[in-house]
Amino acid sequence: MAIVIAVANQKGGVGKTTTTANLGAALALRGCRTLLIDMDPQSNLTSAFGLEKEAEHNVAGALLDRKVSLPIVNVENGLQARLDVVPADLALASAEAALMNKLGRELRLRDQVQAVDARYTHILIDTPPSLGLLTTNALVAATSVIIPTEARFFSVQGLQMLQETIEEVLYLNPRLRILGILLSKLDRRLREERQVSEYVRKRWGDLVFRTEMGTNSKILEAGASGNSVFRYNGAEKAAELYFALADEVLERG
Ligand SMILES: Nc1ncnc2c1ncn2[C@@H]1O[C@H](COP(=O)(O)OP(=O)(O)OP(=O)(O)O)[C@@H](O)[C@H]1O
Ligand SMILES: [Mg+2]
Repeated sequence: MAIVIAVANQKGGVGKTTTTANLGAALALRGCRTLLIDMDPQSNLTSAFGLEKEAEHNVAGALLDRKVSLPIVNVENGLQARLDVVPADLALASAEAALMNKLGRELRLRDQVQAVDARYTHILIDTPPSLGLLTTNALVAATSVIIPTEARFFSVQGLQMLQETIEEVLYLNPRLRILGILLSKLDRRLREERQVSEYVRKRWGDLVFRTEMGTNSKILEAGASGNSVFRYNGAEKAAELYFALADEVLERG
């Protein structure tokens, strides 16, 4: 059975997609059989792997109809490591609305993941910036959650809200736990960010990954050019950090 990790935070732009893509690539390079699932109608993860054209068959169809299996696309991404991706597109937004009236609406992704998880060691699910039905589906399908966060005052409030949502999801998925909180866009030049990151480490202790991602223009550039940091010139430092994060993820099982 695969370790299924939802990457979630209802706050927008905190690094969910960047974390999913680069941690996924790092795990694949470490030899893990890895699947990434895009559960965000913005489909940034799909674009990060240049799969917009493949997205005609996307996760939405498999959520609405259990006879349709998850569409899985293999990407090499120049990595010399196999990585599989389930793409999304905007159809996922209407699928979320359509799901509202369906039976077992929160369990749909879980059942689809169970159908393929014997093939993988790790499945990462990218989620949208909301606590709606798509994120709930990801949390019900997952064994654990990684929460990327910025080190800002309002981000900390958001973390508490997310923790409450996770507690609610335990009704449907009692095995769900927080694998770790990741400081994913930390600007140590700013005093507020230094202070808030200290507070986060004090408040959540060992739950916070030792590895933290500083703001790094190479991460942004790599993402914008449709590359992981592992094949982007000048992003070696960032690549090292994602390997360190992958090793912590493997340690935490
Ligand atoms: N450590 C970093 N340093 C610099 N830029 C970063 C870093 N992490 C992410 N970014 C950039 O910040 C932006 C938002 O990141 P990303 O898309 O991963 O966030 P998100 O949480 O998935 O957003 P959304 O909530 O819209 O899905 C992107 O342009 C990304 O390249
Ligand atoms: Mg995103």
